[in-house]
Amino acid sequence: MSDKKVVLSAIQPTGDMHFGNYFGAVKNWVDLQENYDCVYGVVDYHAMTMPYEPSKLRQNTWELIFNLLAAGVKAEHLFIQSLIPEHAELCWIFNCFTSYGMLQRMTQFKDKSSQSKETGGEGFISAGLLDYPVLQAADILIYRADYVPVGKDQEQHLELSRNIAQRFNNQVGKEYFVLPETLFTEVPKVMSTADPTRKMSKSAGDKHFINVFADESRIRKQIRSAVTDTGEMEEGKMSPGVENLFSLLKASGRQEAHDSLIQDYNAGALKYSDLKEAVAEGLVALSSTFRERKAELQANKKEIKNQIKGSTWEIRKRAQQTIKDVKDLTGLMNVRF
Ligand code: TRP
Repeated sequence: MSDKKVVLSAIQPTGDMHFGNYFGAVKNWVDLQENYDCVYGVVDYHAMTMPYEPSKLRQNTWELIFNLLAAGVKAEHLFIQSLIPEHAELCWIFNCFTSYGMLQRMTQFKDKSSQSKETGGEGFISAGLLDYPVLQAADILIYRADYVPVGKDQEQHLELSRNIAQRFNNQVGKEYFVLPETLFTEVPKVMSTADPTRKMSKSAGDKHFINVFADESRIRKQIRSAVTDTGEMEEGKMSPGVENLFSLLKASGRQEAHDSLIQDYNAGALKYSDLKEAVAEGLVALSSTFRERKAELQANKKEIKNQIKGSTWEIRKRAQQTIKDVKDLTGLMNVRF
């Protein structure tokens, strides 16, 4: 074991990876690998909390694994949640240390449960959806994580994780669980190029996200048709569409092009077609590297899958140690059969 601080993060396996996911989370994961003991999960148990397609879940899980590897996450840091059933076990134990009222007050629960009523989910709201943040707390605390790099929308869940840890520690009379902190890093907020007032997201429909692995012509086309001015902008204020394009340009590492185009903008001489061209160049360059890597990985599918099973197994040992300790502390049975 290293003396590096533990970083834990996770993503749900929901198909494609878009540039919002990449710049907003995955790139950060890649960068953190240098200086922290990183543990990153593909959380398929979480993906069952809303109505979903059972025949696609496993495929989406592997797809996300390959996408993460192609984007630069190292295999040794990755695990698949359902291969570590200790997460579900700790979740159960934590259920008994969690306030029911607090779960009902979680913003994400309120949003998703009302959403499911509206969108023909037949008003079915699973107990899993209510319990979602407890499973998330288990994901985090089971590795005694110091830091969790997540966006603002997850802050409330982090707070709940700390509550659970604190209550557990109080009840068992030992400062066993580390209280995890949110690791805020500056990440760009990537907006939809078709409607720059909303976040880039898959759920809004095809034109509202740009797939990291899309082919070059599609990326160029999506950027070419990006909304820039809507005509009714305040004097002297950059429109959301133009701001988003600049932010994508910077995120894709084109600082010089960014600065020189900003100068044009300030001088009132910016041609939107130039800005779009530069953004497309940046995204296409990243995308082609990722696509190449993904093709290589997919040529060795079996080997890569085995590697991930191996890394999951190694990470599982850490989870098992925590469960052993927790059983001792809580009075549950702890025998080897
Ligand atoms: N709830 C997180 C999200 O929607 C995903 C997640 C599950 C997670 N478990 C986690 C994030 C543990 C960080 C740590 O983005």
